[in-house]
Order: sequence, then structure tokens, then C-alpha cells
Amino acid sequence: MTSFPHDFLWGAATSAYQIEGSPLADGADPSNWHLFAHEPGRIAGGETGDIACDHYRRWPEDIRIMSELGLRAYRFSLSWSRILPQGTGPVNARGLDFYEGLVDALLAAGIQPVPTLFHWDLPAALDERGGWTNRDSAGWFADYADVVFRRLGDRIRRWTTINEPWVIVDAGFVHGVHPPGLTDLNLAAHASHNLLRAHGQAVTCYRAQADGEIGIVINLEPKDPASDTEADLAATRRADAYMNRQYLDPLFLGRYPGELAEVFGPGRPEFPAEDFALIGVPMDFLGLNYYTRSVNRYDPEAPPVFAAQVRQPGAEYSDMGWEVHPESLVRSLVWLKERYGDRPIYITENGGAFPDPEPDDQGRVADPRRREYLRLHLLAVREAIDRGVDVRGYFAWSLLDNFEWACGTDKRFGIVRVDPITRDRTVKDSGWYYRDVIAGDGDILDQEALE
Ligand code: FCB
Repeated sequence: MTSFPHDFLWGAATSAYQIEGSPLADGADPSNWHLFAHEPGRIAGGETGDIACDHYRRWPEDIRIMSELGLRAYRFSLSWSRILPQGTGPVNARGLDFYEGLVDALLAAGIQPVPTLFHWDLPAALDERGGWTNRDSAGWFADYADVVFRRLGDRIRRWTTINEPWVIVDAGFVHGVHPPGLTDLNLAAHASHNLLRAHGQAVTCYRAQADGEIGIVINLEPKDPASDTEADLAATRRADAYMNRQYLDPLFLGRYPGELAEVFGPGRPEFPAEDFALIGVPMDFLGLNYYTRSVNRYDPEAPPVFAAQVRQPGAEYSDMGWEVHPESLVRSLVWLKERYGDRPIYITENGGAFPDPEPDDQGRVADPRRREYLRLHLLAVREAIDRGVDVRGYFAWSLLDNFEWACGTDKRFGIVRVDPITRDRTVKDSGWYYRDVIAGDGDILDQEALE
């Protein structure tokens, strides 16, 4: 096998609400996540992102850690309600100042900033106007993007628009476990479509004023059938269409997958044909988030796809209950190339939640399972590159242990530990291992990790 290309973009990722804390500081108004997390019963343990990793105040230290690890890039997201507190209208200069300070310090440290414009925290004022179910949301998003591009576009070469539209809609509008907490398939279909339109409108706006690169971030989870009965095969196809093709087909093929008619039922709205030209406006790369695959059987009790996941005896599962399955990362990458054509891809998230010990007397955090997860998935990326997929970078999820949405802070994805009380940072073994991987362009990946 070859080494990773010398200019491979080695990075780590976070998102605003999950790490920043201080959600209402310096003129920000609440986001939908801030309000949702404060509703009793929404988040495990009643936690909120009020402090999170306290990155809003500790970011200089976080950049020092990134430098120590030798990261070449850092993916983070901007909080819309810091920049435009009401979502539209007046700009809050102090919100933009925060991100400008972060970006300039990253650049000074030689770390390429890769911002995501929207990683789930919508200004609460926009939720009151229907949020993503309102067709105007695409314009709101493009106006926000425009403000950000004008301020930071000269310094940033690579942007992503929206993180994982599938999770936004499935969790927020189908299962009601993320804001806006709805269980309404019709509104879900509108929200999905408007997220795609919003992406298209932001790309169009970017083209008008800058010449860097822009792409969207999609999550993929290959779907395997639990048996070869027709019921299981059909359930698997529906699950695949709903999760894996619902966004990519319109982005790259100009249409929704046929199986969505079964998933959304006869009430599924028709969308104007001209929307697909906007959705499909060419982008420069695709961001792929990959964590796991799933094995599916037909389950009449599990709408909207009527598929339930079957655990595999002998397989390893992370703390999220996700099977560790690096081969499916290779499959996802090869499938992307075969179905949608050859295009640059960045792995914008990949990582594992595992329980960690406390730091020992020397301050070491031994996390062999996370380190091995990282090693096996990087080998998978390299295999995909060997098979001709144009993968240009990899961002470990996550730089920091953080607020894992409805699960609270219990699920630890960080390659850097964040103490739940003091918020002190300690690089874990997986973080040091990643430093060594980066320093040698991946050469040490072939050695079995030692305890
Ligand atoms: C992804 C999200 C990210 C994090 C990981 C574990 O779906 O993009 O914010 O929660 O899962």
C-alpha cells in the first residue's frame, strides 16, 4: 500500500453548540438548541450546552493543543445566532469578531480553518417562523452566509454549508428528539428539501464573491439486509434511500430516490422542477461523515422505513451502540465514486465513543479502543485511495469530548479529554497516536497498536 499523499489534510472536527458554551454572550440570542436543551426531559441527565467545553473562553488553549498534535486543519462551525441574533436582519459585530479572532489565530498557527456554516443550531427566532419548513429559509441561510463570506472569505479557502441534513430532519422532524421536536412526515419532507435549497443558494452566493472551495457534509451508513427475504431486502432498500440517497441523489442526479414515495406516503409534496437546478449547482468537494453500517430487518413497528437494526453476534459496538465496521467506510467511498462520479472527498467526521479511564498519575489517558478505531478507519481511507477514490483529507471526530446532543456529555468522542468538572484538557493516547500518524504521513498505521 502507498503512503498518504504528502498534502493530505489531516484535521479534527467540532461544532459550535457542542463545545463553545456561553451561548448568550456578547449579544447572541438563543438558538433552537439552547431552548431545547433547557426543556426538562430533552437531554440525558438534564444537561445543557451552557458551558460545554467552555471553548468560547478557552479557544487559545485549544489551538495550542491542535499545534501540539500537528493538525493541518480544523473543522468547526459558526453559530448563526451569534452573528445574526434574530437569524435575519442586524448583524452582531461581536459574534463575527469571535470567529475572526479564532480564524486568524488558526492561520497564524499554520492550521487551515474549515468552517461549517450550519451544524444544527438555528436561531430560535427563525424556528418561530417555521424554521426549515418555511421556503424562505433558503434565502435566510444565503443572507447569513453572505455576511460570513464578506468578513472571512478572503482568508478561508474551504467551506462547508450544512452538516448532515439527514440527522437534522430525521431527529428533529421525524422522531422529535432534536429541535424542533416534531414527528411530522410532511413537514420533514419540506425541511429536507429546503435544507438542500439553502445549500444551493449559499453555494451560488459564494461563487459570486470568492474563489475558494465549498461543499456540503453528508453522513452515510451502508445498509445490509439481515436475511434475503423480500421483506428484509425491501426494508433495507427503503432505509438506504431514506438515509443515504435522499440528499445525494438530488444533489448529483437531480431527483429524489423512488423509494421515498413508500417512506413518506401518498402525502409527499411535489416540488417545483426548477428547485433541482438550484440544489444541483456544482460544488467543489463532498464532505463525508462516517461512523458505522447497519443490518436491517423488516419491522412493522418502526416507521418511517419499517426497518429495525439487528445486532451482529461477535461484532464490536461503541458506546453509541454503533457497530465498529471500517470495511463499510471503504464501501461508502467506492460507492460514492461509482454512483455519483469521481469528485474530491473529505472525511469530515469519523470517530468512536468509548468509556475512558481517569488520567493516571502521569496524566495519561489510555484509550486503546478509540486509538484502534482511528487506526482501522485510516487504513480504510488509504485502501479507498488505493482503489482510486479521490480522498483529500480526514477530520477526526472529535478534537474534544463534548456535548453529544440528546445524549449529553456522557458519550466521549474526544481525542482530547475534557474534565467534566474543571474542563481541563488532557490529550488521550489516541490523540498522541494521531500526532504520530500525521507526522509520518500514515506510515505507522501498518504497525499493530501496542498497549
Ligand atoms: C454526527 C454529528 C456530530 C456528532 C457525531 C457523533 O452525526 O455531526 O455533531 O454528534 O455525529
